[in-house]
Amino acid sequence: MKYEMPEYDTLMPLVVMEKSAFSSNRCVFRDDERGIWLYQANCLEFMDKLIENYPDGKFDMIFADPPYFLSNGGISCHAGKMVKVDKGKWDKSRGTELNHEFNLSWLSRCQQLLNPHGTIWVSGTHHVIHSIGYAMQQLKMKILNDITWEKPNPPPNLSCRYFTHSTETIIWAAKNEKSKHAFNYKDMRKENGGKQMKTVWNIKPPTIKEKSFGKHPTQKPVGLLERIILASTDPGDLVFDPFAGSSTTGVAAVYHGRKFVGCELEKDFIAISKNRFKQLINEDLQTLNLMSAEK
Ligand SMILES: C[S@@+](CC[C@H](N)C(=O)[O-])C[C@H]1O[C@@H](n2cnc3c(N)ncnc32)[C@H](O)[C@@H]1O
Repeated sequence: MKYEMPEYDTLMPLVVMEKSAFSSNRCVFRDDERGIWLYQANCLEFMDKLIENYPDGKFDMIFADPPYFLSNGGISCHAGKMVKVDKGKWDKSRGTELNHEFNLSWLSRCQQLLNPHGTIWVSGTHHVIHSIGYAMQQLKMKILNDITWEKPNPPPNLSCRYFTHSTETIIWAAKNEKSKHAFNYKDMRKENGGKQMKTVWNIKPPTIKEKSFGKHPTQKPVGLLERIILASTDPGDLVFDPFAGSSTTGVAAVYHGRKFVGCELEKDFIAISKNRFKQLINEDLQTLNLMSAEK
């Protein structure tokens, strides 16, 4: 069965927004039946619009993988070769203060958009994660855990002046101190062979198969997002990703019966997301590399 975009009499997206200097601010993919709404928009403007409509919160869970601010002319190793770190314009640092201001402004909007017992997960390297943790404390969020995502077989450090970078941190936090957050403890213990799951997760980076819809420079492995979604949401919950990229969060959420709202600035990444959603809807799970589908 080939997926066809449904025809709507009135294409009435979740929020209607004006075009801005930053983006076209429009709904670019939707499937009301399964619960997929993807917007091409600047997430700050998008969330402001959502807050107007839902001042008391809307989302059960938010996963955010914000710019790392590391594309500033450093070097790295890709496929055995020395390459410049340049993930895109969106990843350039604007200096410590402005980067932190940006983190504070999108995080405060996310906090407002969380339901009272909702949680947020934010991933990042050392370039950004300390600012995120500090901003969460400034906003009086309740930090629940910091997960270390350990990557097996990371690329070597070519300068030989540092340890090999092989982890990312993911901070998990609740809206505020009063939140009674959801945690599917038993499911996680079962996944970990009957033992309590620890905060160090060894998960492979995305495979070539997972990138067959086009390359996103910082795509997350779908298995990582599956674990996050299964740990902290229930079927039917509404998940949001303000920096959706190639929509890894959306693929994992929708596969597990959750609903998804995504927001992404760049049209090339929107194109990858659309292809991944079509693949998911057509139930071609092989290329999506969903870990749970293999079990
Ligand atoms: C680290 S990547 C996210 C990758 C994603 N987790 C995935 O698996 O594909 C960050 C994304 O945020 C987007 N972005 C940066 N600034 C944005 C903004 N203000 N609003 C919306 N998206 C933005 C970038 O284009 C990039 O795709």
